[in-house]
Amino acid sequence: MRKKIKILTVVGTRPNFIKIAPLFEEFKKYKEISRVLIHTGQHYDFEMSNVFFRELKIPKPDYDLNIGSGSHAQQTARVMLKIEKVFIKEKPDLVIVVGDVNSSLAGALTAVKLHIPVAHIEAGQRSFDREMPEEINRILIDHISELLFVSTEDDRKNLLKEGIDKNKIFLTGNIMTDALLKIKKKVVVPYFFKKIGLQKKKYAVLTLHRAGNVDKERRLKEILEAILKISEKLPIVFPIHPRTKKMIRIFGFKKLISKNKSLIIMPPLSYFDMIGLVKNSKLVLTDSGGLQHETTVLNIPCLTIKKTTEWPITVEKGTNLVVGRSKERIIKEALKVISGRVKKAKKIKYWDGKTSKRIAKILLKKTKSIRRNFYE
Ligand code: UD1
Repeated sequence: MRKKIKILTVVGTRPNFIKIAPLFEEFKKYKEISRVLIHTGQHYDFEMSNVFFRELKIPKPDYDLNIGSGSHAQQTARVMLKIEKVFIKEKPDLVIVVGDVNSSLAGALTAVKLHIPVAHIEAGQRSFDREMPEEINRILIDHISELLFVSTEDDRKNLLKEGIDKNKIFLTGNIMTDALLKIKKKVVVPYFFKKIGLQKKKYAVLTLHRAGNVDKERRLKEILEAILKISEKLPIVFPIHPRTKKMIRIFGFKKLISKNKSLIIMPPLSYFDMIGLVKNSKLVLTDSGGLQHETTVLNIPCLTIKKTTEWPITVEKGTNLVVGRSKERIIKEALKVISGRVKKAKKIKYWDGKTSKRIAKILLKKTKSIRRNFYE
């Protein structure tokens, strides 16, 4: 066996890029690790991809698979077909996948069928809502992974309940917090603040992209109506995800939202600009997993527009409240926050900016023996 361990990391979408940035920085300290980065190309727009590599100083991917958009089957299958060739050529000792997107499932499934062990970062998350494509991805990835790095004790318990061997699970904390804490102090008020007339703590931020919220006409309409109502009390900045933009156009809701001057629609923002925007806001309304914990770390009230959360700790110890999708409830809870009724965040174990350090140490210790077991 070669002396160095070769670790191949698969990324494909915006949140993946943020999660691997601190890990790749940590890898630099380890001469024993040779790292290869594959970008599947699930996200390909400049604002959804390149800007994150530039801002977070992520090395240029060694492979770019350019798989683009498509149905779940198309996207997953395209990644699998292309990535298999890379795995065969590179012969990595381990493949890392992060989060719960189609690219992560495709990477994990292809690796394990080639007898390459898989490490899953952000393992064990469950929303218990199988309508979410991400929930299916999470379950499948976790059950074929050899190393499962979990962000919270809840995630570990979820895995144990599903019968996953406790020796494969490592509570290392939240890797996205590493990224956030690294930039938190450097973040300034975004460049567009003055231009659109924003004042600190006098606006809300909205993000919306979950298929369950935006792909169904009636649901999207109800959510947008709630947002319009809230914007009568507090301006709302809405950096719009390409999926949501497309569905608003298809359902003919453009007129409904463009009439309202207090709903400020923007293109997707870079990481620094987004964190700058959130940090100075009064309230965040979202269906994003990332924002649920970023708001807790930044102590900004968050209303999650979904039936359930895969981050229960942000409700228990943080600023998050899951409000579902009913118009009345969304409005009611937003008005409470606007009138000053807010939750304060408590500290969460291992959300301390050292997760990537812990993960790299374990990877170094475990990869060789796992690899040997896989072949013998
Ligand atoms: C994906 C993930 C989701 C994650 C999100 C982060 C899955 C199943 N979903 O959702 O878990 O929270 O990324 O953003 O993997 N599009 C563009 N430009 C791009 C990328 C996408 O225009 O750079 C448009 C395309 O019309 C595409 C649509 O957005 O069809 C949806 O993209 P897709 O990658 O299928 O899923 P996301 O909604 O981004």
